Amino acid sequence: MTELRKLPEDFLMGGATAAYQVEGALDIDGKGPVAWDTFLVEKGRYTAEPASDFYHQYPVDIELCKKFKIDSLRMSIAWSRIFPKGYGEVNQKGVDYYHQVFAECKKHGITPFVTIHHFDTPKALFDDGDFLNRENIKHFVDYAKFCFDEFDEVYYWSTFNEIYPAATNQYLTGVFPPEIKFDLSKTITALHNMMYAHAQAVNIFKEGSYEGEIGVVHSLEPKYPASDSPEDIHAAELDDALSVKFLMDATYLGYYSEHTMACINEILAANNTSISIDENDFVEMKKAANRNDYLGINNYVSHWVKAYNDESQMFYNTTGEKGTQVYRIKGIGERIQRTDLPRTDWDWLIYPEGIYDLLVRIKKDYPNYQKIYITENGLGYKDTFEDGIILDDDRIDYLRGYFNYISKAIDEGVNVKGYFIWSLMDVFSWVNGYNKRYGLFYVDFETQKRYPKESAYWYKLVSETKTII
Ligand code: BG6
Repeated sequence: MTELRKLPEDFLMGGATAAYQVEGALDIDGKGPVAWDTFLVEKGRYTAEPASDFYHQYPVDIELCKKFKIDSLRMSIAWSRIFPKGYGEVNQKGVDYYHQVFAECKKHGITPFVTIHHFDTPKALFDDGDFLNRENIKHFVDYAKFCFDEFDEVYYWSTFNEIYPAATNQYLTGVFPPEIKFDLSKTITALHNMMYAHAQAVNIFKEGSYEGEIGVVHSLEPKYPASDSPEDIHAAELDDALSVKFLMDATYLGYYSEHTMACINEILAANNTSISIDENDFVEMKKAANRNDYLGINNYVSHWVKAYNDESQMFYNTTGEKGTQVYRIKGIGERIQRTDLPRTDWDWLIYPEGIYDLLVRIKKDYPNYQKIYITENGLGYKDTFEDGIILDDDRIDYLRGYFNYISKAIDEGVNVKGYFIWSLMDVFSWVNGYNKRYGLFYVDFETQKRYPKESAYWYKLVSETKTII
């Protein structure tokens, strides 16, 4: 019998959520609109009302955290609850709401781990160009500072959730509003502007007298060449430069390395476009580069990349119909579907070794990283609910696989301090609606009743014993 792996005694076990995906209450108590509100209605899709009704159910969810030994709740603040227009007048009811949530966390000994921006820029600023508009960087930084000043109950701050998907889903895959496809110039400009905004927020935090830690949450997905051919090796390198190195360089170097920029310029040239980056931004970014207290990593998948130089093509599987995803970007590559590996109904390859490769690489390439929290990982699945019982063995297998590789990386000296499952409870998914469930707790979206899945009991045991069973 093989010995079960252990996690460090102080390893934090958390559950992750995001305001727009759980709160509901989209237009009450003075909350301002976000682009998603109208976008989803216009598309005739599901909406995020009432989602998991966290706006009202938060005492139930926080109590569940306590009951199931979930030490920390990763959540985000909805920018437009605080500043309905994104700037200017403060909505006191929104401020009060988050104070109540943090008080409830305190009551149960649950640590809030708070993201400032999770895909929900207020509509007024979004319509004005979102992070393509440099004016909005200032509004974001003011909002971040407001949060630092106001919510001293919060110790852990993340500036942004997933800068890469935020920009690519808006301007490359086009699955988020404003649904622009294959615009590499907009994509990379938005990435840079958000990294610059992150740096400014970190510097304000570090130069203020705030108690706590600050970091950023990146979605990092390992890229492997689809074959040994030099073309495929180079395609994987290009994809990695845009989706990993561009962000990690900005975060931990405060500039883009020569190699990263050479890849970015090659991608831009292949798409007949260019960008301009103000060199002055690097002053602020370099100052922030050694000030990140932690790195949050969201990782679900890994990719195998094949050279691709024809016109870009994209079909994003939002239906759960396996085998429908197509991802080909001109001048970067094609992310192929390896049929020999397990994958979800949404075509997300399941490859737990990937998280190990990623962690080991970060330690090597960015030795000033301090520490890491896995801020999202989990299995999106069509759970079956029978008489209040949800047997989600596939999710447990998925989690066990990832935990084992995280623990292997820890054993090899990578400083991983905690893990947040995506998601705490079932939530609204931006592009998939409600049938792709991730939660430890099943939500009946009609009654808003919560039911622990089998995985919730597994997670509790792991948390209690720090043993990966
Ligand atoms: C991450 C996001 O990209 O993945 C979450 O931070 C998101 O907001 C999660 O819900 C899962 O993605 P999806 O598309 O399966 O809901």
